[in-house]
Amino acid sequence: MIKIAPSILSADFSKLGEQILKTKEAGAEYLHIDVMDGIFVPNISFGAPVYKCIRKMTDQFFDVHLMIVDPLRYIDSFAAAGADGITIHHEACDNPIETLQYIRSKGIKAAISIKPKTDPQVLKPYLPFIDMILIMSVEPGFGGQSFIPTAIDSVRAAKKLVDEGGYDIDIEVDGGLSAKNVDLVSSVGANVIVAGSAIFGAPDMAEAIKEIRENGDQTYCAKL
Ligand code: DX5
Ligand code: ZN
Repeated sequence: MIKIAPSILSADFSKLGEQILKTKEAGAEYLHIDVMDGIFVPNISFGAPVYKCIRKMTDQFFDVHLMIVDPLRYIDSFAAAGADGITIHHEACDNPIETLQYIRSKGIKAAISIKPKTDPQVLKPYLPFIDMILIMSVEPGFGGQSFIPTAIDSVRAAKKLVDEGGYDIDIEVDGGLSAKNVDLVSSVGANVIVAGSAIFGAPDMAEAIKEIRENGDQTYCAKL
């Protein structure tokens, strides 16, 4: 079974609360929260104070995707704001394992992400320290971009590493996903699907979530 993670980067921030409740009513288990610093990626989004405000509205899993350099500096404040899971980038710090261990020490699920051009074999040393792998299927920084097909190979390779090592690690994919192409990644083992524009840009958000889930569940492959 797959989980759906609407990315609030594509929400209408003048109606953020209302839109989040709609995703909750439609059964989205996660909220994907994109934090950008203008250095690791060429864009700035929002920080902990924004999602702290919505924490009391919903019990959805807060899946915080940190696109920032040296994330260790901010783990305390992201934890205090109510993160359930924190993802850091392999490319964004010198001490990823120390940071992942610190995230877990706070009782928060830890995840590592790789950009589309990063070799998925770099994930191997992280496996004992993570609960999830995030494969980027666009260059991080902006919502609304097109899915990069090489991400399919990265998901497959990540799934293979996880299964061969006997780990229980979720595989999330982020960027350019919709009901039309979710099968490309669910069929090679992705079980957490991020979607921003395909959900918040849809005329009927509940319908969009339902379609992504149906197509994802029908094609999900738990064992390659
Ligand atoms: C990109 C972000 C994504 C983005 C996804 O850097 O990490 O989460 O918001 O948006 P869509 O689904 O529109 O590609
Ligand atoms: Zn993201």
